[in-house]
Amino acid sequence: NACKLFFLFLLSIPCLCSSQPSPPPLRFSAFLDDSNMVFMRWDHDEEEMMTFELQVRTVGWVAFGFSPHGELPGSDIVIGGVFPNGSIYFSDWHAVDEENLKEDNSQDYQLLSLTEDETFTTLRFKRYFQTCDPNDLDITGDTARLISAFGTDDTVQFSKGQRFLKSLFLMRVISPTELNDPKIFFTYDLKLNDFPIPVDETTYACTFIPLPIVKQKHHIYKFEPIITTHQNRSMVHHILVYACGNGSVLPTGISDCYGADPDFALCSQVVVGWAVGGGSYQFPNEAAISIGTPMDPQYIRLEIHYSNFDLIPGLIDNSGIRFYCTPELRPYDMGVLQTGVFTFPVHFIPPGADAYKSYGLCKSSQFNEVNVTLVSILKNYHMAQRDYSEEAVRMENGEQVRIICEDNKYDFALQETRDLKEVITIKVGDEILVECNFQTLDRTEITFGGPSTLNEMCLAFLFYYPRNNISSCMGYPDIQQIAHTLGQEASDAMEGMIAMNYVEWNNETIKTAEKAAKEADQIVMIKTIDELQKNESGIIRDIMIPESGLCHDISGRLGVRGPQVTANLRGAAAVISQALSTAEILPLPLLLLTQLSFTWLLTSSQCRI
Ligand SMILES: *[C@@H]1O[C@H](CO)[C@@H](O)[C@H](O)[C@H]1NC(C)=O
Ligand SMILES: *[C@@H]1O[C@H](CO)[C@@H](O)[C@H](O)[C@H]1NC(C)=O
Ligand SMILES: *[C@@H]1O[C@H](CO)[C@@H](O)[C@H](O)[C@H]1NC(C)=O
Ligand SMILES: *[C@@H]1O[C@H](CO)[C@@H](O)[C@H](O)[C@H]1NC(C)=O
Ligand SMILES: *[C@@H]1O[C@H](CO)[C@@H](O)[C@H](O)[C@H]1NC(C)=O
Ligand SMILES: *[C@@H]1O[C@H](CO)[C@@H](O)[C@H](O)[C@H]1NC(C)=O
Ligand SMILES: *[C@@H]1O[C@H](CO)[C@@H](O)[C@H](O)[C@H]1NC(C)=O
Repeated sequence: NACKLFFLFLLSIPCLCSSQPSPPPLRFSAFLDDSNMVFMRWDHDEEEMMTFELQVRTVGWVAFGFSPHGELPGSDIVIGGVFPNGSIYFSDWHAVDEENLKEDNSQDYQLLSLTEDETFTTLRFKRYFQTCDPNDLDITGDTARLISAFGTDDTVQFSKGQRFLKSLFLMRVISPTELNDPKIFFTYDLKLNDFPIPVDETTYACTFIPLPIVKQKHHIYKFEPIITTHQNRSMVHHILVYACGNGSVLPTGISDCYGADPDFALCSQVVVGWAVGGGSYQFPNEAAISIGTPMDPQYIRLEIHYSNFDLIPGLIDNSGIRFYCTPELRPYDMGVLQTGVFTFPVHFIPPGADAYKSYGLCKSSQFNEVNVTLVSILKNYHMAQRDYSEEAVRMENGEQVRIICEDNKYDFALQETRDLKEVITIKVGDEILVECNFQTLDRTEITFGGPSTLNEMCLAFLFYYPRNNISSCMGYPDIQQIAHTLGQEASDAMEGMIAMNYVEWNNETIKTAEKAAKEADQIVMIKTIDELQKNESGIIRDIMIPESGLCHDISGRLGVRGPQVTANLRGAAAVISQALSTAEILPLPLLLLTQLSFTWLLTSSQCRI
């Protein structure tokens, strides 16, 4: 077939919904594209089923699915639509390689309804989180890479259709309707005023802004981004708001956050964060951020990361964050605990690593005698590597109690606050261990820990209540021990850091360094909101990730999964291509939106000590 057209065979599908009561509303929704053509609602249930409803502005075919990391090969895709004569088609496919789709032998998506009017095609379907078909990708707590596409008619031609890629966290737990809005509230904008965006690919603009002056205690219960658009485009890549401690002398004006004046990097306690792909966030009903008492911050640092890839001159920007404040107080004040690896060059990541794990330990024996209930988490790191993953684990008496949060497909472009599946109580004496997994195959120089984008971070921000006065609890390994294991001389930490530059990095020394960093004594630094500091020591224990080998087939029967394709892309393509049939060929050069947007990060990364 020379023009590589692709026709779907008609399936006569009985309408499963007509005689049944109307389906429950789906709690979560998002647009999958920037032009608001593809609207998705979704929800999950106790039976480990995820239900999706897609409303797409087309009368042609619609495709939706999951990509392993943003690329097409190995993607799990459903395609459906309504023919002009009213017949419908719907089936489960997978992408064999960059160009070819193949229908799955096992059909694991159940169609609930499929309709079309003059404007929209609407599909509702469901599937199990883990199907038994190795050609389907699992739905997990990892950031999902969602592919969507549509065409103008019912001849499915991916190369001519519109395609989108969106990173989304599907395992949300609190829906907007469960959140209480106060009767009295006011908004307060923290933003830049008429800031001329520099003609540079990347700019980190920082400024210090006072929080609202209120006579009595208030709560900040919600925030949303305020984004200036320039010819329908936003130059803002991410925004972070940091609380400033009492008494610091803060600079005025707007400047480069990590440039010549180190004062513009003051205040390191993250309060809220937003990045491309994120939306507004409202704290759960029990707690919110307090302002207006002596314990509270009075100033914040606003950090806006601009990406002006096309070097457009003359752009004036007024972006920032809007806070919603209320005098109707919730039961608790929210605190933010920064955990992870101490952001300092003692944290290093060798170049050319396929996977390199770093660990940061927090010991809570210094915490106040309170039960800390973690409610949500915002993670932050710089390296835009597709294989980055992060876990935070709670340990008690050296035993792993539970995984607080885990994401094996973290997307730099989706830094958002996530509610945890359930509240977790951290008891005094517990340990919190953060593990980050980096990939540095694109780098030729060692990467050191630090706040700028040239450096790297491994942090987890835990939102918790009731607030205590600890603001950060981060660990780092004894670098002298690591240097000695790698055969380097080092009589103090500084020499240990410098010695890392002299190590000949290959896969063997990378493994040795990873093991040495894990086994070295950890120094745990605990800081209070008054910047008082206390140190402890500890050791890194193994994190156990429970693997569920169970899956559901279409009828709901439990089975044991065959070889999964999620983990190893190359393996998957090799397995599937044997089954390739020439009749079912689609040309599919998929637009890798997410990866394009952070290419500069990969190429501009260098080391700096
Ligand atoms: C409707 O149209 C499709 C595609 O042209 C065709 O395959 C199918 O047989 C038609 N169905 C009926 C009931 O005519
Ligand atoms: C911006 O978007 C609107 C609506 O989508 C469209 O009508 C307009 O032409 C766009 N402008 C530019 C400059 O792309
Ligand atoms: C912060 O500074 C104000 C004014 O100087 C003071 O009244 C207050 O006690 C300080 N708060 C803390 C926690 O130190
Ligand atoms: C923490 O919770 C435990 C069990 O729920 C309770 O026994 C203990 O009194 C609580 N401690 C504080 C300080 O609230
Ligand atoms: C922090 O908590 C400790 C223990 O409860 C208390 O003694 C100390 O005064 C607190 N510090 C501040 C600044 O509130
Ligand atoms: C480590 O091995 C991978 C292949 O597994 C290779 O791509 C990479 O370049 C190696 N790293 C170094 C530093 O030699
Ligand atoms: C804790 O460790 C840091 C870094 O090694 C050091 O600068 C600081 O003085 C130590 N603080 C205490 C109280 O020992």
